[in-house]
Amino acid sequence: MQIDELRRRVAEIQWFHTIDLGNGVVTPGVDASPQKLQTIGMPADLTGRSVLDLCAWDGFFSFEAERRGARRVLAVDYFYWSGPGWGTKAGFDLAREALSSKVVEGREIDVLDVSPDNTGVCDVVLFLGVLYHMRHPLLAIEKVSAVTGGMLILETHVDLTSLNRAAMAFYAGDELNRDGSNWCGPNEACVIAMLKDGGFKRVEVHSRTYEPVALSPDPESLREARVNRAVFHAWK
Ligand SMILES: C[S@@+](CC[C@H](N)C(=O)[O-])C[C@H]1O[C@@H](n2cnc3c(N)ncnc32)[C@H](O)[C@@H]1O
Repeated sequence: MQIDELRRRVAEIQWFHTIDLGNGVVTPGVDASPQKLQTIGMPADLTGRSVLDLCAWDGFFSFEAERRGARRVLAVDYFYWSGPGWGTKAGFDLAREALSSKVVEGREIDVLDVSPDNTGVCDVVLFLGVLYHMRHPLLAIEKVSAVTGGMLILETHVDLTSLNRAAMAFYAGDELNRDGSNWCGPNEACVIAMLKDGGFKRVEVHSRTYEPVALSPDPESLREARVNRAVFHAWK
């Protein structure tokens, strides 16, 4: 594709991910995708492995998995591809074409509908930025667990981080970030407990974007605590 043509097509799309398509063309996503990549601990070498990117949206992490040698990458999404979210699948399709992807396949499947029958059981599963959007987080983890053969990388917003027991906040209406699609904010202990309950034998906190603090009555610090993110690695 000619660069001018690529630029024109990129400009027609409302992007979530920031993807370097080469030749100086970078998609103008609202998400700091390259920075997020630094936090998630994706294995540097995915040679020969199958990867499932659950809720892939524009596919930044799927294409990165291909770049790292994955044998097969299945990107699935529904909510922002053809569901009620503001996005579409156009960004994923254009990035796939522009990057001349050979192994990334996109399939419209809602996360609660994934199963070994329609996605297979994959070596590495990415579940990034999705858990807090789930009305049924435990059900989502059961579904994710069923399609994970090896390692799960889960990135999520966390809340109630100052509590020293498993707990999960419930967001009424659009309480979190004025976004009605945000439903829950588990703390780290809760994510770990849910993953173990879902069949993962080993779970680790890989990274976090905040310092755990002691419980404080200061409302400002509680407000602060609402933009916390953490990354978990879990193995079957
Ligand atoms: C914040 S984006 C994360 C995209 C990508 N995985 C990443 O980490 O950059 C949330 C993703 O969850 C999906 N999703 C699934 N169910 C959702 C729901 N009920 N509400 C909002 N998003 C939902 C969206 O389609 C979207 O791909």
